Amino acid sequence: MQDAVAFDFGPFPVLTTERLILRALTPADAGDVFVFWGDPEVQRFNAEPSRDFEETRQFIREMHAAYQAGRSVMWAVAERCDGRVVGAVSLHDWSRRHQRAEVGYTLARSWWGRGMAYEAVAAVCAFGFDQMGLHRIEAETIADNHRSVRLLERLGFQREGTRREYSLEDDGLFHHSAMYGLLDYEYQRPECL
Ligand SMILES: CC(C)(COP(=O)(O)OP(=O)(O)OC[C@H]1O[C@@H](n2cnc3c(N)ncnc32)[C@H](O)[C@@H]1OP(=O)(O)O)[C@@H](O)C(=O)NCCC(=O)NCCS
Repeated sequence: MQDAVAFDFGPFPVLTTERLILRALTPADAGDVFVFWGDPEVQRFNAEPSRDFEETRQFIREMHAAYQAGRSVMWAVAERCDGRVVGAVSLHDWSRRHQRAEVGYTLARSWWGRGMAYEAVAAVCAFGFDQMGLHRIEAETIADNHRSVRLLERLGFQREGTRREYSLEDDGLFHHSAMYGLLDYEYQRPECL
């Protein structure tokens, strides 16, 4: 069967929305990025927080290599007005054969509650469907991560299942994981794009 893939991991795809520019992360962003990757509250339901700038820089280098290898795209989410990086959104685990990929997202805590993640993830979904030829974008989130669940549902993702007591979190409890999916023909692009 033919892959419906147009995107070839050439020049990095810069995306623009009403308030944001989504661009490649660079080592110079490490200070801004450490604000969220180094924040235990932001990382509560995710990987261990970054310990220092050097670890953050190393992670940025790994993201760059993953892009060069055609494995995943991670966008720095920067404010249009001053270029400051306030978050990151990725498309990873791209199955070209099945035309699906997984989306990940994170935002510095002081930017929560302003619709910035909504705007950034909406742009990345549009890119996935329009430029990568995706049929399906999926997301997995701890079910108690209410902001994450609200974001996905506002974007039109449908909850498709629960992995019970999937993840042992810092509170010493096992938390359910919620599986979400969005299909290309269901996606309604918001006005901020
Ligand atoms: C998940 C995460 C990105 C969500 O961020 P967020 O700011 O809550 O998400 P949104 O951008 O959708 O903003 C939604 C809020 O902004 C408000 N808002 C304000 N202006 C808005 C606008 N122009 N458009 C949309 N929403 C707007 C909404 O009403 C909503 O408010 P509420 O929180 O009171 O419901 C953030 O909590 C985060 O980084 N968490 C840590 C990382 C993480 O857990 N990632 C997921 C791993 S699976």
